[in-house]
This record gives sequence, structure tokens and C-alpha cells, in this order.
Amino acid sequence: MPPNPLAATLPAATLPDRLWLPDSARRDVLETPFGLYIHVPFCASRCGYCDFNTYTASELGPGASQHDYVDSVLAELRLVRHILGPQLPTVGTVFFGGGTPTLLPAEHLAAMLDEIRAEFPVAADVEITVEANPESVTRASFARLARAGVNRVSLGMQSAVPHVLSVLDRRHTPGQALRAAEDARAAGIARVSLDLIYGTPGESDEDWQTSLGAALSAGVQHLSAYALIVEPGTALARQVASGQIAAPDDDVLADRYEQADQVLAAAGMGWYEVSNWATSAAGRCRHNELYWTGGNWWGIGPGAHSHIGGARWWNRKHPAAYARALSVGDSPAQGSELLDDAARRVESIMLGIRLRDGVALEVLSERGRARAGEAVTYGLLDRAAYAGGRAALTLRGRLLADAVVRDLTD
Ligand SMILES: C[S@@+](CC[C@H](N)C(=O)[O-])C[C@H]1O[C@@H](n2cnc3c(N)ncnc32)[C@H](O)[C@@H]1O
Ligand code: SF4
Repeated sequence: MPPNPLAATLPAATLPDRLWLPDSARRDVLETPFGLYIHVPFCASRCGYCDFNTYTASELGPGASQHDYVDSVLAELRLVRHILGPQLPTVGTVFFGGGTPTLLPAEHLAAMLDEIRAEFPVAADVEITVEANPESVTRASFARLARAGVNRVSLGMQSAVPHVLSVLDRRHTPGQALRAAEDARAAGIARVSLDLIYGTPGESDEDWQTSLGAALSAGVQHLSAYALIVEPGTALARQVASGQIAAPDDDVLADRYEQADQVLAAAGMGWYEVSNWATSAAGRCRHNELYWTGGNWWGIGPGAHSHIGGARWWNRKHPAAYARALSVGDSPAQGSELLDDAARRVESIMLGIRLRDGVALEVLSERGRARAGEAVTYGLLDRAAYAGGRAALTLRGRLLADAVVRDLTD
């Protein structure tokens, strides 16, 4: 095992093996685009459908606080810098995700960005995104974020229809999401994205059309649309199990997806990943593109996942356990794995096939290439792309993307 990079700086008792970064990953780090993800695990209330690693004030318990969270993040950023050593990658993207990053004072997010600039080389055109709930932002808070360098905001709009928002337990009105998009731009944050959810029980085709129309009226460059997933353990799952709410219907979900793609394409928004549309290549989320194209990222915060050159690891999930590790100079990492070449190839197919350009046929196994030929005849892969040496999904293929992936990789 190569020497631990922290060996010279920390006493032996605080040197767990999990701080080790394999040589193969280290070699990759300067050659591959690099981004930082900062997880903010706090929400004002929990939406019934959501199982993200996030905590309301009453769920948090002792040993962690929203107020002190910034200190843990600053400590982890310094640790990352130590582990990566003197040859640091240039940060091309920063993504504050949640949870609700905008529940923290803008000054705390600004302090994290200052630390990143102090510890790492940062690209001149760095993309800095903050996820925000519409009711947690104002024009003034956006202005503070813009001054700190934030240049992209992703707003959780979900729907423009009050009864749909109510089933989703959202705390904002349709108008608040649109106003937030306007406020972000007015404050100087040029790039705005809206998240929508479709297939919520009780949502009609007309409701979905209303939501799409409202989102387009905001004039944003980017939209994400997700099928509602009933995650085990959520309040929504309990309501579905008790028969109080109907489960989302697969045929309805497929119809809604087609409706979205048609409406968005007609308005000049093209899909670039199965759940993501943008007005142009410049409007795409570069940070998420890192995830989909085998880039490197370091995930900061409780439960955050990281990937560098085939090495993957993840942090302790609870904010108290995360804060405790950092307070004694330890790594918050809890587990790790090193992908071999075969696993990396399969993963690159799983993620790449969901992109508009798909994947090169030559990365598929012989069997996978034969299956790709069959998928063309079933209308799941694009014939012209296939003739040009690529496996790229058709609209029908996008609706069955998981099945296509299984076919091409097994
Ligand atoms: C975890 S949230 C973080 C952003 C912010 N807290 C919000 O809710 O607006 C990111 C996005 O994931 C999507 N999401 C979360 N849970 C989902 C589920 N069960 N089904 C579909 N989409 C989901 C929502 O569209 C949400 O905007
Ligand atoms: S959807 Fe967003 S606001 Fe709702 S609980 Fe999840 S992270 Fe929090």
C-alpha cells in the first residue's frame, strides 16, 4: 500500500487507511476534469416523497447544528487539500446540493467558496451552482450569493399546480418558484434551472401541461424533469401502502415524459440527458456532466460520495458523526471501493447511454454490440447513430433506458 499522504502531518493514531488515495487515482487527478460537491443536509420540513440525506431541526438530534456546519465543511476542504497533496487539480465546478443549501446564511456559503479559492486552483470560468427551494430565497440573498461568485441556481419548482404541490408537501406556491427565477437573474445569476416532477397522483395531463408552460414562461436555459419515485420509508410510500394515495402509473409516467419532450423541444429546449433539457450546450449543467462522463469529484459533507480515477468512497451519513470525525482531525469517510477496468467500462456505458450522444459501439462487448443491433430494430437505439458507430437512445429508448442498459451490459 502506498504511503498515506497525511503521514507527515498527523499523529499515527489519526491515520485511518481510508485516507489513502491509490496511485492510479492520483495519476488520474491532474488529467481529468475535477469538481467539488458540497452537501447541505438541512431542510425546513421534509417533503413526503423525499429520502435524501437531509434533516429538519427536530430530526437532527445532538452533536450537529446548522450554525456550526460551515466549520465542518471548512475542515473537510482543508483535509481534501492535504490528501490530494501539492499537485492539486483545478476546480472547474462547485455544486452546493441538498437538502436546502439556501437555509444556510449566504455568508456561510461564501466562506466555503473563499476557502476553496484559498486552497485550490480554480478555473477562470468555474461553474458555481446552488440548489434552492423557492421559499428560501430573496432577491437580496441571491445578490449576496452572486457577490460570492455563484453563477448558477437550480430551483425546486416541481409543479405549477397547487393541488400537486400539496400532495408533494411543498411549502411554496407556483408563483414563488417563478419569482425566485426572476429574482436570481435580477441579482446577476445568469444561469437558472428549474426542477419539475411528473406523475404525482392526482396530476392530470392538463396539470402537467400547465407546469411545463409555467416553467418555460420563466425563460430559463435549463430544466430537469423527474418521474415521481415512491421511495421506501417515505411518508408517500406509507400513504401509497395504506391506499390513501394511488401509486404513480407507469403508462402515465411514459405519456408525461413524451409530453414534456415534445413541449420542451418545440420551445427550443433539447434533451442532453434523459431527465435534462437545455437551450444550448452552454446551458447544460457542467457539474452533472462530470458525473455522467467519468469525471472526478470530491463530495464534501455527510453522506457525500466521491470519485477519483476509479476510486470511490462515501462519508458518514449523519451530520453528528460527520462533524465528530472532522473535529478530531479524522476523515469523515466511512467506506470505499476501487473499481477495476471492467467495472469502470460497465459504469461508463450505464451513464453514457443516458446522454444524447450515447456511447461508442466499440466500448460494448461483442455480445453488447449484437444486442445494440437488435435494439435498433426494436426502435430503442437510433439507426443513423448506430451506422456512425454509436449507441444512442431514441425517444422510445429513453422511456426504457434502464432495460436498454441491462441489455447492453450483461
Ligand atoms: C433533493 S432535491 C434538492 C433541492 C431542493 N431541496 C428542493 O427540493 O427543491 C433535488 C431534486 O430531486 C428531485 N427529487 C427528490 N426526490 C424525488 C423523488 N422521490 N422522485 C422524483 N424526484 C425527486 C426533486 O425534483 C428535487 O428538486
Ligand atoms: S425535496 Fe428538497 S426540500 Fe424537500 S425534503 Fe427533499 S431536499 Fe428537502
